[in-house]
Amino acid sequence: MKNLFLSLILTLPLLAGCTKNNNEIAIGEFDSMTGSDATFGLSSNKGVRLAIDEINAAGGVKGKKLALTAMDDQGKNEEAVSAVTRLVTQTKVVAIIGGVASGRSKASAPVAQSHQIPFVSPASTNPDVTKVGDYVFRICFIDPFQGLVMAKFASENMKMKKVAILRDVKNDYSVGLADVFAQEFKKRGGEIVSDLSYQAGDIDFKAQLTQIRSKNPDTLYIPGYYTEVGLIAQQARQLGIKVPLMGGDGWDSEKLSEIGKEAINGNYFSNHYTTESTDPAVSDFIKKFKAKYNETPDALAALGYDAAKILAAAIERAPNLSGPAIRDEIAKTKDFGGVTGKITLNANRDAVKSAVVIQVDGKNRKFITTISP
Ligand code: PHE
Repeated sequence: MKNLFLSLILTLPLLAGCTKNNNEIAIGEFDSMTGSDATFGLSSNKGVRLAIDEINAAGGVKGKKLALTAMDDQGKNEEAVSAVTRLVTQTKVVAIIGGVASGRSKASAPVAQSHQIPFVSPASTNPDVTKVGDYVFRICFIDPFQGLVMAKFASENMKMKKVAILRDVKNDYSVGLADVFAQEFKKRGGEIVSDLSYQAGDIDFKAQLTQIRSKNPDTLYIPGYYTEVGLIAQQARQLGIKVPLMGGDGWDSEKLSEIGKEAINGNYFSNHYTTESTDPAVSDFIKKFKAKYNETPDALAALGYDAAKILAAAIERAPNLSGPAIRDEIAKTKDFGGVTGKITLNANRDAVKSAVVIQVDGKNRKFITTISP
């Protein structure tokens, strides 16, 4: 009797650790649902939910429904850490989809790693993110490639020689991308005539832009997030800087043109997918997304959708729901036909994929070219 009592006490926490409900598999997600890059989290979450609804409608995974718990990190590193901690220790998720912003993924992934809970970032492109450990994956390309893409586009397609860089010094993503771009552009014979900084939350960029204007660059490379980029574009035009502006995936938000208005039109950024693709998988995804949310999916929605599908497929293949079993299957992801391209994870747990160059035209995203690794 005493033994039975003891073993009950010992197994109860373990049972609770499985899932709240035996017919469900708990999946976690965290991202910025509020704050200055809120569209990152909101879009990504819409993509994740669309994928999970489809999977559940088709019978779920291992005969169980996927139950998603999504948490808001408010765009703050410390909130990302606490969201992942809660998902792992309280919700007892079997895996986490999360982290768009590289800084927040890098800050919070160690929590998942230390509990052996797989962490799949849909969109964090800074190389350091997956270096956290063998439980951390991403299904997007990395910034050493993304930086090369725009350096190549600026020098080869646009025949530009002089570039000014304006980077967000407090953002790992922005700093990493600026560095790679500078290196690759110089390699191609170009010159960086100015390399200045700002911080997320700044609203006045006139001092930096005035300095940049005096150097007469052919373009400004601004690898930041959309809120500041929109303001920078406006102020650049007000100061008479007429050359095209360029950036990375952090530009992708419906808010970019709301903030940047006319000033953002005609400028270029690298991204993960194009709505103009003729791939039936892409048009089918756009149709389903529009039917559910009445809006066009941005790259984050597409990446969130692919991340959830890749994770679900790995859970389905895994012999059991333990972290190590699921981890091993995610690592085997090969030639997965995603909306954002064919996804194979390499030994560094990163995806190797092509990027597209997009031109902003109000809310439209004009496809310019594809650049492959
Ligand atoms: N790549 C960005 C980062 O790592 C996040 C991002 C991805 C933003 C895709 C927009 C679109 O911080």
